[in-house]
Amino acid sequence: MGKLSRTLAELCIAILIIEMLVRTGDASSASSDLHGNDTPFTQKLRHKTNLSQFIWDNSVDLLPQAWNTTFISGVLHGNLNPNFYGDYVLQDAIYCRIVAQLWTELANNATVDKKVRRYANDSISGYEACSVQLFDRWSVKDDGGDNYGVLLQNPVKEYTTYINETMIAHPPNALIATYACLKLWTNLTNELWDIVKDETSNPYRVWVNENRDDGSSAREQAAQMDEWDRKYQWYDWSEALSLYRSAMLNEINFFNHAGNSSKYLSV
Ligand SMILES: *[C@@H]1O[C@H](CO)[C@@H](O)[C@H](O)[C@H]1NC(C)=O
Ligand SMILES: *[C@@H]1O[C@H](CO)[C@@H](O)[C@H](O)[C@H]1NC(C)=O
Ligand SMILES: *[C@@H]1O[C@H](CO)[C@@H](O)[C@H](O)[C@H]1NC(C)=O
Ligand SMILES: *[C@@H]1O[C@H](CO)[C@@H](O)[C@H](O)[C@H]1NC(C)=O
Ligand SMILES: *[C@@H]1O[C@H](CO)[C@@H](O)[C@H](O)[C@H]1NC(C)=O
Ligand SMILES: *[C@@H]1O[C@H](CO)[C@@H](O)[C@H](O)[C@H]1NC(C)=O
Ligand SMILES: *[C@@H]1O[C@H](CO)[C@@H](O)[C@H](O)[C@H]1NC(C)=O
Repeated sequence: MGKLSRTLAELCIAILIIEMLVRTGDASSASSDLHGNDTPFTQKLRHKTNLSQFIWDNSVDLLPQAWNTTFISGVLHGNLNPNFYGDYVLQDAIYCRIVAQLWTELANNATVDKKVRRYANDSISGYEACSVQLFDRWSVKDDGGDNYGVLLQNPVKEYTTYINETMIAHPPNALIATYACLKLWTNLTNELWDIVKDETSNPYRVWVNENRDDGSSAREQAAQMDEWDRKYQWYDWSEALSLYRSAMLNEINFFNHAGNSSKYLSV
């Protein structure tokens, strides 16, 4: 490398480092105020795409890991241990119940912006229905509140604690933290259906068929976060991406461990 190009390269690296420092500085102060999240990084990107698209496009590198989990790969190949399946479904019901409670807490929180509270209120019933249906079907004791007859295990506990902390720190981020579930779920179940729809001997074909959806919930949530992002600049995009990736990794951990029954199973 010649001297000039080496100097140029050093200059470029210096600029890159300064840019990264500025970006980190912006991100760390991002959640202190509902407004004023608009960093130069965010502004530049908003000209090119929208927030929901940005966080998904920059997380699809995690998809192979999601396919490789105990649950998804077992459903795909029809060889999932049925004990793991049961374990997964019950923990999934608890996930739905706790997220319904989290939306309720947000909807009832008087210090939170009215628009966010309205969205939270509208989100409760879907998650509540998901948990009630699964508990009913599996004959689980359930008072419709936080009293149900299945133990909450680590993967779902960690995942929902993460969502809770995220929404308390900056309420609009509730939409980011819960978007992994909606978007990844739609993507995987539809991909799975394409593969297993003709495989009538796959016992999990039934599950895939019942759980695939048209993606309308994911699209609605995406449209809402994109609207808030444009109108109010409530999101710092680099923070949103990192939160979204954490949610995706929580999904992957859940797909691998569910209620951690694998310690008893040879899955
Ligand atoms: C898939 O999972 C197995 C163990 O569960 C691991 O050994 C392997 O490296 C994983 N492959 C990918 C591509 O993540
Ligand atoms: C969410 O966190 C708050 C504060 O730590 C806590 O009071 C509340 O019980 C949590 N909600 C749920 C559903 O775990
Ligand atoms: C919350 O949603 C329910 C329907 O799910 C509706 O009846 C109620 O009016 C809503 N409350 C507020 C404050 O928007
Ligand atoms: C599963 O259980 C084992 C033994 O109790 C524990 O060490 C491990 O951390 C658990 N894993 C998860 C993902 O909860
Ligand atoms: C209400 O929201 C504020 C702001 O996010 C948060 O600090 C507070 O802990 C929340 N209160 C409850 C009861 O969740
Ligand atoms: C799932 O996401 C990938 C990556 O964005 C995309 O290529 C694929 O078409 C999606 N599949 C479905 C069924 O939406
Ligand atoms: C976000 O952008 C993508 C393309 O980048 C587009 O397909 C999608 O419809 C947009 N979503 C919204 C809610 O505008």
